[in-house]
Amino acid sequence: MKKISKKVLIPVFSGLVVIAAIAIIAFSFTKKPKKTQESQGKLILGFSQIGSESAWRTRNTQSIFEAAEQNDIQIIFDDAQQKQANQLKAIRSFIVYQVDVIAFVPIVSDGWDNVLQEAKTAGIPVIVVDRQIDCDESLYAGFLGEDGYEEGFAAANFLIEKCKNRLGPINIVEFSGTENSSIATLRAQGFRSIIDDYDKFNIIHSEDGDFLRSRGKEMMDRIIKENGGLRLNGHTIDVIYSHNDSMTLGLLDSLHNNNINPRNTIILSIDAEQKSIDALVNGELNCVVECNPNSGPTLMKLVKSIADGKPIPRVTYMLDKIFTENDDFSTYEPRGY
Ligand code: AHR
Repeated sequence: MKKISKKVLIPVFSGLVVIAAIAIIAFSFTKKPKKTQESQGKLILGFSQIGSESAWRTRNTQSIFEAAEQNDIQIIFDDAQQKQANQLKAIRSFIVYQVDVIAFVPIVSDGWDNVLQEAKTAGIPVIVVDRQIDCDESLYAGFLGEDGYEEGFAAANFLIEKCKNRLGPINIVEFSGTENSSIATLRAQGFRSIIDDYDKFNIIHSEDGDFLRSRGKEMMDRIIKENGGLRLNGHTIDVIYSHNDSMTLGLLDSLHNNNINPRNTIILSIDAEQKSIDALVNGELNCVVECNPNSGPTLMKLVKSIADGKPIPRVTYMLDKIFTENDDFSTYEPRGY
């Protein structure tokens, strides 16, 4: 797999713009677009990524760059450094630049109406990638990404089956993703859609860990310290449901540092990074629901269709697999992220 050098991923001037097609062509957002010799005739995609909070996110960015190169599409890239304000600024810059298509990963679900209306008025179609938004559907062409509800549902399904012969109460702690992001909301809803049907399961605590490994460790450290072990307010913690692998790896760091054996707790995670698959094989996790980051090739297909004036589906879901402790691990392929 071709790697994108860090240099390409780092914004080159003050948060306004980074241009990083694999063929590296630099533009200035301060000027009206003037297609360079090299970009002449190429489609130009303005792409705003959230940042690089996880190995999953880095792979997602790579997939989009690789596919753009393979399809001869030029990317104008902006790394929002986890801030919606930076994404709004980047999208406005793409509009000024008159890119052919805009794609962006919305860090949270609200607050996009005005900027998307501006893109629409400028005649630039927008594809929403990875996370969904709450706004008038006529303001964007379509969504491409995972089905977060199904991911939460799959994690809960595994848990129900695993605990089918166990009596309650079974106490669950949830480490949730970024507050107000569609993906955290959907993963929570999908999980509860099954769990709520069983009296023996109790979600005794849910906390926002912002999808970060450091936060996963911090939250687990605090629970252990305040409760003298893997307990909460006098209850044993039987299950940890973590919305992504970064937080899961952080909480495992904490368990190891505190000499607590993760094998005595049911731990469910989402993403399927190589490190969490290794932890699954090692018996430290019980179920990992894949969130497929390789959306680049499909995104480029959608970009080309839109540029050809063809409609695209309102929703295109990436396919996810489920990895569990019951699998034949010898069939696992390296994950690549
Ligand atoms: O939006 C997808 C989520 O964002 C991934 O599960 C996570 O790793 C990333 O930060």
